[in-house]
Amino acid sequence: PFAADRHEIVDALYWIGAVTVAWVSVSTLCCLLNGTRVWIVGNGNLMRATKLGKWAGWYLARRGFAIVLISRTQEKLDEVSKAIESKYNVETKTISADFGSVDIYPKIESGLAGLEIGVLVNNVGVSYSYPEFFLNIPNIDSFISNMININITSVCQVRESCSSLKSKGVILNVASASGMYPVPLLTLYSSSKAFVDFFSRGLAAEYKSKGIIIQSVLPFYVTTKLSKIRRATLDIPSPERYVKAQLCTVGLQTQSNGYFPHAVMGWVTTALLPAKLLNKYVMSMGLSQRARYLKKQKQG
Ligand SMILES: NC(=O)c1ccc[n+]([C@@H]2O[C@H](COP(=O)([O-])OP(=O)(O)OC[C@H]3O[C@@H](n4cnc5c(N)ncnc54)[C@H](OP(=O)(O)O)[C@@H]3O)[C@@H](O)[C@H]2O)c1
Repeated sequence: PFAADRHEIVDALYWIGAVTVAWVSVSTLCCLLNGTRVWIVGNGNLMRATKLGKWAGWYLARRGFAIVLISRTQEKLDEVSKAIESKYNVETKTISADFGSVDIYPKIESGLAGLEIGVLVNNVGVSYSYPEFFLNIPNIDSFISNMININITSVCQVRESCSSLKSKGVILNVASASGMYPVPLLTLYSSSKAFVDFFSRGLAAEYKSKGIIIQSVLPFYVTTKLSKIRRATLDIPSPERYVKAQLCTVGLQTQSNGYFPHAVMGWVTTALLPAKLLNKYVMSMGLSQRARYLKKQKQG
């Protein structure tokens, strides 16, 4: 009877091993096929003005879209719209609005009235000026309402623009990799971006059947004013390089890191690293950035 038991155990182990190997092989194959589809083949011609509505945002000008720019500073808007018109020979329109306030949406709605919007890019966003413990944030009340209005309310107000969205339209909501897991010392920013990610993915499912593509975009660092990083590297691309890669993922991924090295970083941080370890690592990074910032402030 002992030999028979052993036989049964060996049989069971054999099947557990076989199923595990089959599962890992199929998952790896799916991953490779999906990776090839998104990062090598790309979405081809989807993001073209002839396929979607005519009006979209800045980097889409080179793909033939007319551009509506909505941001805070009129002088900067004028400068950028002139540059787009002369470089890409497309129509532009500007609307100045401070997304820190909530009474701007009627103005935006009337500015967009009559335009056939093909692509809406919800890009506006603010972060902390340095990593800080939540209760130590200076002027915390206005900080909270400003960040919620700019990072969250602006994205929820898509209804204003959705009414001008062509039936086959695209909405790109720029969240952040900081929304994929909690980032201590940037807690409110990270949470606001997690909201944008959930909101986009829910909305994407609701409107898929209507032909509207909604993508949650989750970049890691990009060299911009917000990141305060100037020198581009493989893992910290320039905005041009990032956007070029990201536009190829539209229609293929509802949730995307937008750029291959960022997708690898997203996979490592969320699928490979245990959440506790990641949390500890991100906290220690935040603490050292905070210490460096405060030291500089003291010296300066
Ligand atoms: N850069 C990164 O590493 C990174 C990483 C992950 C996610 N993101 C996200 O990517 C998006 C774009 O960020 P970015 O890095 O390009 O930032 P950025 O260089 O600071 O640009 C942000 C834009 O938003 C405008 N803006 C800021 N506050 C505004 C307000 N109250 N009302 C109207 N417009 C306002 C700015 O206009 P002004 O020039 O007039 O201030 C600017 O045009 C954000 O949602 C950000 O959270 C960035």
